[in-house]
Amino acid sequence: MKILMVTSEVTPYAKSGGLADAVAALSRSLSRAGHEVKIFLPRYYSIDRSTLEALPDPMAVPLGSGEAWTGLYRGSLPDSNVEVYFLDYERFYGRDGIYGTKAEPDFGDNPARFALLSRAAFQLCRRLSWIPDVFHAHDWPSSLVPVYLKHLEGGEFSASASVLSVHNLGYQGIYGKEAFPSLGLPWELFYGASFEHYGRVNILKAGLATADCLSTVSPTYSREIQTPALGAGLDGLLRFRSADLVGILNGVDSGDWDPAHDRLIPAKFSSRDLSGKAACKKALQRSFGLAEDASKPLVAMVARLTDQKGIAELFGPSYGSAAKLCSDMDLQFIVQGSGEKWCESELKSLSSRFPNFKARLGYDEGAAHLVEAGADFFLMPSRYEPCGLNQMYSLLYGTLPIVHRTGGLADTVENYNQETGSGTGFMFDNLTPRSIYDTTGWAVWAYYNKKDHIDAMRKRAMEKDFSWERPAGEYLKLYERALERAAGRRI
Ligand code: ADP
Ligand code: GLC
Repeated sequence: MKILMVTSEVTPYAKSGGLADAVAALSRSLSRAGHEVKIFLPRYYSIDRSTLEALPDPMAVPLGSGEAWTGLYRGSLPDSNVEVYFLDYERFYGRDGIYGTKAEPDFGDNPARFALLSRAAFQLCRRLSWIPDVFHAHDWPSSLVPVYLKHLEGGEFSASASVLSVHNLGYQGIYGKEAFPSLGLPWELFYGASFEHYGRVNILKAGLATADCLSTVSPTYSREIQTPALGAGLDGLLRFRSADLVGILNGVDSGDWDPAHDRLIPAKFSSRDLSGKAACKKALQRSFGLAEDASKPLVAMVARLTDQKGIAELFGPSYGSAAKLCSDMDLQFIVQGSGEKWCESELKSLSSRFPNFKARLGYDEGAAHLVEAGADFFLMPSRYEPCGLNQMYSLLYGTLPIVHRTGGLADTVENYNQETGSGTGFMFDNLTPRSIYDTTGWAVWAYYNKKDHIDAMRKRAMEKDFSWERPAGEYLKLYERALERAAGRRI
């Protein structure tokens, strides 16, 4: 099959979260199975042009009521046959930030920036004389791809199908109505293609209404988003499209995340020999400036510090459980992350108040690997979690997750049973400061009092199979279904 991934992020070129990892790994896995996959994303300012091949001649792309003259670059996805194409357009992408900056988290011209990417996907295919069977869009930034395919791009694409994957329903691309003309669509489609959302433009919504098939990144999340509680205002539409929606759990790219071969950690280890993990713990304690004490349970978190990740319940000043955890329990606690300002300053304050708490602000890939390798427990009290990659990385590194039973966390972690010793992590059902406190306390208790259980859980966790072959196979089935739908659409 020929598949074009249209995305705003892909590892290693542009990443803000798990989306980038998921798109890269899925593409690699499909390509290994013999399919022809190409990836298309903007050439953000941070992507070094000198490592890429410039394609000759500019490419004209319809933009709003006019046209943009863009450039194309070609690179490749490491360890694969996947070609990566980059859309170059200085006015939109020649600046810092994928979606925005600290000062301006959501660029005002984002509807136009991502409309251009989505529209250019078709021009790219024409330029390459390569007609994909499936256009695979990811999240709101490429949600216009199914809309353009259905309403503007007939001709050579009339047999192509579209699939839209929701990695996070919390971001929908909602803008004032005045943004609509920049999408280059006739006004009747404002209602006709379901953009209208309480009088505003909702780009994800139009994609969800239009794509031939839909997916999200875990089975539990696929059910949750059809409920008012986690449907973020789109549960009605998602229930309506229920027959075309599947939940496919992400995998883990073992090229990047495998403690036996990880180049970013000081000592390698496996479920058969965990001795390297102790060396990683020591290195982690040292790098965060904690006492190098092998006997203390080390609880860690690596995350985008946004409300989704449960930071209010954990770090909310005078409300969250972190301070009490550090003062009441004999543990060490580290955080690597960046995000909301209030949270960053609370992390600084906790670091200065508690010798057993250390936070490092910022995005640091190496640190993320060292944390996964060196910590004993990985805390993920997410309010909602479409899939979550970090808890899977944790499991594979023998770092037991402490999680809220939601979304992909519910699908990947098995709760500890202190009678039998079964399980791979520690779970709570309702997100409150108290439940985070109690469940972390439970893990710490087991660490000190049930060492045999903890050791067995680590081994069990590390032997989990999160390879991408199974999910890639499920995506192929979804592509087949989308092609059938697309054929039906034309009759
Ligand atoms: P989300 O995509 O919602 O952020 P995931 O768990 O799916 O959550 O993926 C998060 C990814 O981003 C992981 O690969 C994680 O290691 C990485 N990550 C998040 N914050 C940081 C950070 N501050 N430094 C390094 N890596 C980070
Ligand atoms: C999103 C979700 C996360 C998921 C990732 C990759 O960023 O928040 O749960 O793992 O996408 O699909």
